[in-house]
Amino acid sequence: MTNKLKYFVGNWKMFGSFSSLKNIYRIHRFCVKFNKARKKNKIILCVPNTLIYFFTKKFRSKIISIGAQNCHHHQTKGSFTGSVNAKMLKNVGAKYIILGHSESRHEGDTNQLIKKKIKSALNQQLYVIFCIGETYSEKIRKKTFSVLKNQLKSSMDKKINLNNIIIAYEPVWSIGTGKIPKIDSLRNIFRFIKNEFKKNLKTKTSPPVLYGGSVNDKNITKFTSILEIDGFLIGGASRSSKKFIDIIKNYYK
Ligand code: 13P
Repeated sequence: MTNKLKYFVGNWKMFGSFSSLKNIYRIHRFCVKFNKARKKNKIILCVPNTLIYFFTKKFRSKIISIGAQNCHHHQTKGSFTGSVNAKMLKNVGAKYIILGHSESRHEGDTNQLIKKKIKSALNQQLYVIFCIGETYSEKIRKKTFSVLKNQLKSSMDKKINLNNIIIAYEPVWSIGTGKIPKIDSLRNIFRFIKNEFKKNLKTKTSPPVLYGGSVNDKNITKFTSILEIDGFLIGGASRSSKKFIDIIKNYYK
């Protein structure tokens, strides 16, 4: 186990209400104690847009940051019914934003559109959690590496601010299914992503890379042997403060 900062990111998806604030308080109370005694963790909760302002006004913390889950690619105001851009999310207090999630890709986000969104979020100094991952059919056709390579290459501008990017590897077949990749193959994928990023952007360092897909308090211990994993993007289990806290605790056991 290294001493490096680890990210535990919750993606609440289309769940949560004002009363979920109590979950955030619980996670915060736990982290204040835990981080003092043990490790450095960064907690990010990506919540529905309707809750961002409420949470960030009620709650200030260096340990927990609030993020959004997607945005419109347009940088300025416009006639885009039902849409919200990165600037608006920044204005209500978001610090992070998930982009390229497979559920958003499923709704029509292409690599080109994601590229525009990343650019507009970075222009607002938001931290971008950029999701990549192969589908089940791509996996069985042994296309994982070429899919990841293409997603990385076609959605990221060479001139982006590298300090504000986090990558999340989320195999689509693992999201919400209880299935996780084999540890050896996951290690290779993480090495591949980090090398590919450095090659594309001609840099010596890679941004943090997170794993996402069916992470829970039981299987989290399986990931500890992969030093290349800088943290986790957690869906279902992040909506319960107990499960989320147990994931962090068990990771360090
Ligand atoms: P689950 O943890 O529910 O599989 O979801 C993962 C995810 O989509 C996080 O972005």
